[in-house]
Amino acid sequence: MELFNDFFETTGGFQFMARFGHILAGVTWIGLLYFFNFVQVPAYAELSDGARSEALRKLTFRALWWFRYAAALTFLFGIILVGIYSSEENSNYLEGVSGTSILTGMLFGITMFLNVWGVIWRNQKIVIGNAENVAAGGEANPEAPAAAKRAARASRCNTLFSIPMLWFMVFTAHGVTFYSAVGGTIVYWAFLLIIWGLIEASALGYIGGFDSPFNKLAFDKHQNTIWAGFILLAVIWFIGWELLLPT
Ligand code: HEM
Repeated sequence: MELFNDFFETTGGFQFMARFGHILAGVTWIGLLYFFNFVQVPAYAELSDGARSEALRKLTFRALWWFRYAAALTFLFGIILVGIYSSEENSNYLEGVSGTSILTGMLFGITMFLNVWGVIWRNQKIVIGNAENVAAGGEANPEAPAAAKRAARASRCNTLFSIPMLWFMVFTAHGVTFYSAVGGTIVYWAFLLIIWGLIEASALGYIGGFDSPFNKLAFDKHQNTIWAGFILLAVIWFIGWELLLPT
């Protein structure tokens, strides 16, 4: 039972299990996010109203249950991991280059988690509730199309953020030792927070509405969203890490 030796130490079995749980829940969450964005949205655009309504109530409803609880578990295990690594005596986990890397990943991961529960699920409840009501012979809810748009924009924003998020999660665990940077400065964090804030505010419709030129370009087509994710990663990497982090 050596897995249980020094169970709660930073190298012990507990951190391993939390890490395993974090990755298992993360795969479930992000896998469903990609299914919604790359498969469901284009497929639903081709379905008849009746078929789409039935699929929303029977398929999307179930997928959203796994999606939001996987997001909650990923977040919970992630916070447990941060707690384990930063509670070690004389820990400088959140300082220096590992801290800069994991805090960058967490900025995107926590925003994505809040988008799931605060925007996507809240608005999908209106969309699915409307489909249920119409299927039972009731009146259509005039709020439903706007709710669907809000959910769709937040979902595309999460897809965009998922690329730098996952990079920095994995980089913290396996890559920071390649790097000689000493950690983020105020200039790095200001730079990162401005780009993150502009993209999130835009997706939430606060900059020029839901159909602003940026939103249409980055979010209307999922192919563009994937490109935008890699471009964001490159910008953070080449400007943030290569130019702004002191070595
Ligand atoms: C929601 C907020 C999140 C927090 C607070 C968080 C926190 C963490 C922490 C502390 C680590 C350990 C890094 C280290 O080894 O020093 C980690 C690793 C990791 N995280 Fe997250 N994370 C979050 C979201 C996600 C999401 C959404 C995914 C999606 C799959 C994810 C995937 C990973 C992966 C793959 C690793 C690397 C594990 C390894 O290779 O050992 N995380 N995360």
